[in-house]
Amino acid sequence: MTTPQTPHKTALITGASSGIGKALAHEFARAGYHLVLAARGVAKMQALADELQRQFKVVVTVICADLETDDGAARLHAEVKARGIVLSALVNNAGYGAFGEFKDSALAPELAMMQLNMNTVVVLTKLFMPDLLATRGKILNTASTAAFQPGPYMAVYYATKSFVLSFSEAIASELEDTGVTVTALCPGPTASGFQDKADMGHSALVKGKKLPTSEEVAALGYRAMQRGQRVYIPGFTNWALAQSMRFTPRNLATKMVKILTKPLA
Ligand SMILES: NC(=O)c1ccc[n+]([C@@H]2O[C@H](COP(=O)([O-])OP(=O)(O)OC[C@H]3O[C@@H](n4cnc5c(N)ncnc54)[C@H](OP(=O)(O)O)[C@@H]3O)[C@@H](O)[C@H]2O)c1
Repeated sequence: MTTPQTPHKTALITGASSGIGKALAHEFARAGYHLVLAARGVAKMQALADELQRQFKVVVTVICADLETDDGAARLHAEVKARGIVLSALVNNAGYGAFGEFKDSALAPELAMMQLNMNTVVVLTKLFMPDLLATRGKILNTASTAAFQPGPYMAVYYATKSFVLSFSEAIASELEDTGVTVTALCPGPTASGFQDKADMGHSALVKGKKLPTSEEVAALGYRAMQRGQRVYIPGFTNWALAQSMRFTPRNLATKMVKILTKPLA
């Protein structure tokens, strides 16, 4: 059994039922955090909670939350507060993408994605700010390398992640004298439920590629959060590509992503 290093702290992780969020739950539990896991997949989260409680002797609370509804984030906050829990870490990780041409896609799922990927991040960060200020806590927002340039074939998704990155860096700056740190984790393509959900198995971005695991990305992201690093991009190639976008004309960057992402036969 691992000895807890940070007893009595509690982290809320959204999107903890699978992929990067589930792997982040392991990282926090290993470090001794008590956890609140939130997503819609209660059975998966309960199985994870049982495993983490057994392995790391931490308290894990599971809350069913649909965070793409108008009041989903506020309801989650109310449920956490009703249990008397004070957060030391907030992990805004729940999110998804959708692959395809904007002219052909349905509007309602795109608005729901924007609600989850952006509004929910703002609402939870706002509502839990008193907790985080009181505990000099940590915020970890899962953005993406999609945040650094426009993304043809995933136009709305890329734009939501630009929002998360910009928002995270701005409040990190505002909060710099408070003891609260904000980290934007910007993974490139990562093996998780994401590709199936986004229906992007035939995109050049992932087809036939060996992707890093969610566990690898989560371990690196957790360490970046503990260092208080504002923006963290796992993997040298992802980092180098993101940096190169700073010096690349926007039209060219957009064209590059279009080629890298296009549907393959
Ligand atoms: N995998 C990648 O290639 C990649 C790359 C860069 C960034 N990211 C970002 O990483 C984050 C985690 O994604 P992942 O890769 O781990 O994908 P994943 O395995 O599909 O996990 C997504 C998580 O979000 C939750 N979620 C989805 N809709 C939700 C809703 N309406 N309400 C509450 N929770 C919801 C899912 O839980 P339920 O379905 O149980 O609700 C699940 O736990 C996302 O923000 C994604 O944009 C992923």
